[in-house]
Amino acid sequence: MDSIYIYGGNFLRGETKIQGSKNAALPIMAASLLIKGTCVIKNCPRIADVYLMQNLLQELGCSVTWYRNTVTIDATNVIDNAMSGESVRRMRSSVMLLGAMLGRIGEVFMAYPGGCVIGKRPIDLHLTALKKMGVEVIEQEHFFTAKVRKLKAMDYTLPFPSVGATENILLAAVLAEGTTTVRNAAKEPEIEALCGFLKAAGADIEGEGTSTLSIKGVGELREAKYTVPSDRIVAGTYLIAALSSGGSIFLEKAPAEHLGALIKVAGQMGGNITVNEDGVGIDVIRRLKAIPCLRTEVYDGFPTDLQSPMMAAMAVAQGESVLEETIFENRFRIVDELRKMGADIRIEKNKAYVTGKERLVGASVEAEELRGGAALVIAGLGASGKTIIKNRHFIERGYEDICRDFRNLGADINIG
Ligand code: UD1
Repeated sequence: MDSIYIYGGNFLRGETKIQGSKNAALPIMAASLLIKGTCVIKNCPRIADVYLMQNLLQELGCSVTWYRNTVTIDATNVIDNAMSGESVRRMRSSVMLLGAMLGRIGEVFMAYPGGCVIGKRPIDLHLTALKKMGVEVIEQEHFFTAKVRKLKAMDYTLPFPSVGATENILLAAVLAEGTTTVRNAAKEPEIEALCGFLKAAGADIEGEGTSTLSIKGVGELREAKYTVPSDRIVAGTYLIAALSSGGSIFLEKAPAEHLGALIKVAGQMGGNITVNEDGVGIDVIRRLKAIPCLRTEVYDGFPTDLQSPMMAAMAVAQGESVLEETIFENRFRIVDELRKMGADIRIEKNKAYVTGKERLVGASVEAEELRGGAALVIAGLGASGKTIIKNRHFIERGYEDICRDFRNLGADINIG
């Protein structure tokens, strides 16, 4: 139970379709709270984190219904200002409800958000920015209250381009009085998606996709429909799996325009990438080459969410690769599990030195968080023999059905 079984060693061949983006869907769902009416969000991934967000919205009084991958959220009535500790602590993205609740009713009482075990992940940047908008924050040990009579615009430079803080500022600013300017804002595609949804609802935003956002507050937002873009991290995970296992795959709807950094590295490692209007393909016919230095960076650098999957591929590349993590301080938890499969990895501070083996060996390993779990799947697909990955639920936080997708690509992989 709660495991994935893989008989590794197959080349990957075939096509699969890429799901909607988790990191775009979550803030968009939170943003629907700002609208006194019904919003329709299409291409929403059916994953555990989205269901957690659904639960939180329902606790606050929203009605949420599904038809296939379309979720309809009716936020006509918001009846509560408090969010239960358990749901909030289980998912870091619950923090998105902070800006949305302040915009909607000017008050929220919530636990400090949790999420993956990949670092301290405080919310100081969120709170500091919101205080500049007139929000009063009363902090207790495990909970805090935030309230504001009228949100006011600000001209603010973020000390670090935090994705979540940028999203919370956007959610608070769209209904604030005046024009808010955010400098050093995050430029991730998921910010553009959130802006796309808010603009469809009548928000006045300029500069999305750049580091300066200008948000002119409007009196009210209206009901909106929006289609969530494809998930660049899921697409990236599957491209890296093909790098690691070899083969020839095509990822329908993979967003090539958001995968530039990975596409470049995949080419350097020996993958042959093709891009067309339907998606992205990759052919890998030789053993991978190591990468002397790869750093994670904010967009449009190499994404931290693909660092662990890439480590699994480097573990079978020819030569020594160096992988430097610059965004989260605790994102090498996967190393011990990869070592059980025979990987040769040495950690020094925030750098991993990975000496590639010809092949990893199947083993029984444990996922501890989402992307690390996906990395173990990649390792298992390329390894000889049987791999059992425990704690499948971590992987299900972000992947709709990773086993189905890899079976579409010719792998021998099942839940158990
Ligand atoms: C989002 C993504 C996550 C991705 C990350 C970086 C979602 C749901 N999650 O997370 O998948 O890995 O962006 O691309 O979209 N920080 C602080 N104080 C704060 C906020 C952040 O110190 O108030 C630090 C974090 O601890 C981390 C770094 O800033 O070290 C990046 O965090 P941030 O960009 O905020 O990431 P998230 O929004 O949490």
